[in-house]
Amino acid sequence: MPLSILRDIPLFAELNDEELTKLAGCLQTKEYKKDSTVVSETDEGSTLFIINKGQVKISRTSESKKEVILAILGEGDFFGEMSLLDGLTRSANVITIKDSELFLLRREDFLVLTEKNPQIAVGLLKELAFRLRKSDAQIKSLSLFDAAGRVATALIQIAEDTGTIKDGVVRIQNLPSQQDLANIAGTSRETISRVLNAFIADKLIKKSKGSLFINNYEKFKRRFS
Ligand code: CMP
Repeated sequence: MPLSILRDIPLFAELNDEELTKLAGCLQTKEYKKDSTVVSETDEGSTLFIINKGQVKISRTSESKKEVILAILGEGDFFGEMSLLDGLTRSANVITIKDSELFLLRREDFLVLTEKNPQIAVGLLKELAFRLRKSDAQIKSLSLFDAAGRVATALIQIAEDTGTIKDGVVRIQNLPSQQDLANIAGTSRETISRVLNAFIADKLIKKSKGSLFINNYEKFKRRFS
């Protein structure tokens, strides 16, 4: 595996070439088709996953099979660290939403790597703080906002996870399906469609060539946070 691939993963960005070579020797590469379950909530956890290609959704489901999506993770992101750290079962389901290529790192190798390179632990803590902030925003939105606010928060969450910004306009390529959007915003597919159309009529967002654009991202964030 070329070291440049590993160097581009934020969690490993501080490792030198020798450490990266050692890490490469510990990683297993696995391909998953879209809609594959990588991790199920309540599984025992013994592996950390790093997304080299593709995208996954992190979700919880109720007994009646209703789903809430907690996050969408993309290239360079990792998951599976929680059960490695606390020794409990997996905290959520992880399902691919695109064909994906993942790197797998066994718990023992991850712990040795982290002990030898404390900067990995600091990077991990930073990412956990970032995820907690996003979860806080989602809890606020689900409990306090109306439908428009919840859909806006979902768009902001996806923009932060996968969007690119240019001249104040955020572009989201490959927007999740309307059902996935509904499961992030805790609403129905019909409401997603109605609110997105209202946002388009108000010129807050636009859709073009398979992408969704948030026109004035800073203003949009201020209005819906
Ligand atoms: P783990 O509990 O081992 O398996 C499921 C993984 O989903 C978990 O580790 C985290 O990596 C990830 N995860 C759980 N909750 C969230 C969240 N709110 N935001 C982002 N990732 C999460």
